[in-house]
Amino acid sequence: MSPVRESISKGTVTPVRDVPSSIPRPEYVGKTRAALWTGGDVHSPETIERIRVSARIAAQALAEVGRHVVPGVTTDELDRIGHEFVLDHGAYPSTLGYPGAAGRPAFPKALCTSVNEVICHGIPDSTVIEEGDIVKVDITAFTGGVHGDNCGSFIAGEGTPEAQELVQVTYDAMMRGIKAAQPGREVNIIGRVIEKYASRFGFESVRSYTGHGVGPAFHTGLVIPHYDAAPHHADVIEPGMVFTVEPMLCMGSEENHEWDDGWTVVTDDHSWVAQFEHTIVITETGPEILTLP
Ligand code: MF3
Ligand code: CO
Ligand code: CO
Repeated sequence: MSPVRESISKGTVTPVRDVPSSIPRPEYVGKTRAALWTGGDVHSPETIERIRVSARIAAQALAEVGRHVVPGVTTDELDRIGHEFVLDHGAYPSTLGYPGAAGRPAFPKALCTSVNEVICHGIPDSTVIEEGDIVKVDITAFTGGVHGDNCGSFIAGEGTPEAQELVQVTYDAMMRGIKAAQPGREVNIIGRVIEKYASRFGFESVRSYTGHGVGPAFHTGLVIPHYDAAPHHADVIEPGMVFTVEPMLCMGSEENHEWDDGWTVVTDDHSWVAQFEHTIVITETGPEILTLP
């Protein structure tokens, strides 16, 4: 096994890729901020069916991009693949043109590629993936007026046993968090379960980025913590709710900062990170994953 790379740095971002005018855009594209969502997080069966369609496209796109995570590919090429896949399925890639924080640029690409110590929101660019890298791909599809959001971690080549363990534990943590999302409980149970499981392996769960309500809005305002936030985030889980569970686990400290690009979030100690994300709907009998291919 060749040694893993030292650290990630900014590459060159290609021009914004086109979207045919026939594909409907989310309301925020071209604006400086997304509209405030006031419609709540419990949706009608008809809305949930539409979210199911977007979620499936997002899941298929994630699988397609994931197949291309190999040493030598650029993160820009991964974006091209995801961008074209989503358009080919008649959907809009929700991150493209998503407004940034005040005075910051909109996100310029169809997906996020977050490599190694990048926690999330990495911008696809000329960065070349190397053997052993952990590449988090986060892709969201918008069609029928609703979004479906998901993320996976892919190791380029084999990866170290440590990287493999981090990825597996993060996936298992997400699934445990999802299973805990039972009607009648508070959403903070999800974070409690995730953080507790991560800590068994010595991993820290990121606090500053969370899961969220999703559907007619990309981010509805509902927060799903991935740590024990009680007594905060006490919203009660109800049938018809749709939200994401998307833990980010770190090999070291979860303390983090953002690059001056206004997006890329990295661990302060440069410890490596894995993330998985599903969009789920709560039924009378428990959670159902929507982001399945
Ligand atoms: N898909 C991410 C999430 O899980 C959000 C990315 S927003 C972007 O919430 F602008 F960074 F792309
Ligand atoms: Co996402
Ligand atoms: Co999300």
